[in-house]
Amino acid sequence: MTQAPVLPVPVITIDGPSGSGKGTISRLVARRLGWHYLDSGAIYRAVGLAAAWEGVDLADEAAVAACAARTRIRFDTGGDGEEPKVLVNDKDATHQLRMETAGAAASAIAALPAVRAALLQLQRDFRSAPGLVADGRDMGTVVFPEATVKVFLTASAEERARRRHKQLKDKGVSVTLAGLLGEIVARDERDASRAVAPLRPADDAVSIDSTAQPILAVVEQVLALLPEDLRARAQAASGRNN
Ligand code: C5P
Repeated sequence: MTQAPVLPVPVITIDGPSGSGKGTISRLVARRLGWHYLDSGAIYRAVGLAAAWEGVDLADEAAVAACAARTRIRFDTGGDGEEPKVLVNDKDATHQLRMETAGAAASAIAALPAVRAALLQLQRDFRSAPGLVADGRDMGTVVFPEATVKVFLTASAEERARRRHKQLKDKGVSVTLAGLLGEIVARDERDASRAVAPLRPADDAVSIDSTAQPILAVVEQVLALLPEDLRARAQAASGRNN
C-alpha cells in the first residue's frame, strides 16, 4: 500500500511595524483555525531583558548571542483569546516585556546578526501541526520563506501610537501619547534600516492597512487568503473555537 504524502505544516506569517495590530490579529486568526501562535517579538524582548538582568553589554554581539542561546523562554497560554504569560528564565516577565523600554532593547539586539542566528531554530520549532500563525518583522522573509500565506500589516504611525497608548494605559502604565509616537517611529526606522532581516514586506506578501478597519474585518481578510481546503478546516474549527 502506498503511503499518503506527508504535507508540510501550513504557516501564516504576519509581519509589520509595532502597533499595526499584528499580535491581536495573529492570536485571533490562530484561535479561529485552532493553530499555534508564535510572538517572535516577545522572544527578542525576552533576550533583551535577560541581557539587562545579567548586565550584558547590549552592543557586545558575541555576549548577547551567548545570552540568547542560554535564555529559557516559555509561553504559558492563558484562557481563550488572552495574551499568554511569558516566563524568562522561569520568572514571569509578561508585564515588563510590554514596556517600550523592552521594545527598544529588543530592537537594539535584534540588529545583531549573531543574535538573530542564535534565535532562528527556536522560532522554526514553533511550526507544528495543525498549523502556525507567526508574527514579527521577518517571518515571511527569513524565518518561514515558504509560508502558505504572507501578510504585511500596516497602519498610520498616529493610529499605532494610539493603540499602544491604550494598551499600556489598560495595563496601568502611564506614558504620553506624543512620547510614545516618537519612540515608535524611531524603533520602526531602526528596524527598517538595519542590514540584517530588515522590516519589509516579502515579495509575495499581501499588504493590509488596518488603520480604519475593525480587528475582526482584518481577521476575515487574512482567513480569506487561505487556500480552499485550509479555509474549510477553519470553518469547522470556528464552530469549535467561537
Ligand atoms: O513585535 P514587538 O514590538 O514585540 O518586537 C520588538 C522588537 O523586536 C522589534 O522592534 C524588532 O526590533 C524586534 N523583532 C525583530 N524580528 C522579529 C520580531 C521582533 O527584529 N521577527
